[in-house]
Amino acid sequence: MVEAGKATYLSLCAACHLPSLKGKTESPAAIGPDLTDDIWIHGAEPTNVFHTVDAGVLVKGMPAWGPVLGTEKSVQVVAFILSHHDAP
Ligand code: HEC
Repeated sequence: MVEAGKATYLSLCAACHLPSLKGKTESPAAIGPDLTDDIWIHGAEPTNVFHTVDAGVLVKGMPAWGPVLGTEKSVQVVAFILSHHDAP
């Protein structure tokens, strides 16, 4: 599950969140925020993270991935993100 999510992440998410997942923490030029720190703009629960991926934050430039990925791949990519996350 985590490996499948990694493939999705690298092809669709790394452009904004960077391959390291560290986004703006690594490079101020990155569009997306750090997904490994313990700051969650939209909630730390796996269901919150899933919702952000599924529905996006369109006004902030985060696309809605639900229609693109479907539920199974969205769950996989969330599992990948959470596997790289140190604190809840
Ligand atoms: C076009 C750039 C872009 C792409 C591509 C992108 N994101 Fe984002 N993402 C953002 C932005 C910008 C935010 C911050 C939204 C905000 O400030 O509310 C964000 C926020 C998030 C958050 C919430 C972080 C938090 O602190 O709550 C998650 C989770 C996330 N993205 C996952 C993904 C995943 C998974 C993918 C690939 C399927 C992806 N993103 C692709 C731009 C992007």
